[in-house]
Amino acid sequence: MKKWTVTTIREAKGKAKLGCVTAYDAAFARLADEAGVPIILVGDSMGNNVLGYPNTLNVELEDTLRAVGAVARAAKDAMVVADLPFGTYQASADEAVANAVRCLKAGADAVKLEGATPGVCALIKRLVESGIPVLAHVGMQPQSVNVYGGFKKQGKTDEAAARILADAKAVAAAGAFMVTLECIPSELAAAITAELAIPTIGIGAGKECDAQWLVMHDLLGLNERVPGFVKKYADLATVVRGAFSRYVAEVAAGQFP
Ligand code: KIV
Repeated sequence: MKKWTVTTIREAKGKAKLGCVTAYDAAFARLADEAGVPIILVGDSMGNNVLGYPNTLNVELEDTLRAVGAVARAAKDAMVVADLPFGTYQASADEAVANAVRCLKAGADAVKLEGATPGVCALIKRLVESGIPVLAHVGMQPQSVNVYGGFKKQGKTDEAAARILADAKAVAAAGAFMVTLECIPSELAAAITAELAIPTIGIGAGKECDAQWLVMHDLLGLNERVPGFVKKYADLATVVRGAFSRYVAEVAAGQFP
């Protein structure tokens, strides 16, 4: 297998559906890579899944850089995407470019950022012109949880759907090589996927997207409570808890070592 690039990902549109995941460390990134996952996102979902916060807002650039390095050292073929944390690209374009450059120097092949305002689109254009591929993110944007007043499905009215379609077109026009569609109606995701030349990657956005994300901890069953759209492909919580408790019991009983 060859290394996935923006070119091969773009070329897959309409030919192959890509199952992509998040990962935050070398051990799981290596397993995902060996399993043929094309894109590994060092998601800011590490806030919830690794660092124990209720949302993604507390993740710092240093957290992401450390995790990107670990994932990039383990992933041979997968494209590694660094999710720019909240606060690392909102204040100024210069700061955003400097932070994205640090992600690439840490080992990422591309960065992901949320939104499609004129400011974000101008930033996407500037990043791409600076040699940094951008994976955009529209629909439900977890970094805006406080604006929404909770994690809520987006695009439910005709007006909201039209706005998300316009957002997707705007980030594509700005130069994003792919766009995440999070928690929007599947018909809207299908319409956006048909309309755009770049591939879409959905999460909670139905099966018509060109690719799918699943958060690693949800997919593997490390999280026992998961969103309704998730399919658990393993029950690692039970496996891991069982292993820990057998170990504790065997040490207590003098059976190990
Ligand atoms: O951080 C994350 O997990 C994401 C999802 C869209 C995959 O951004």
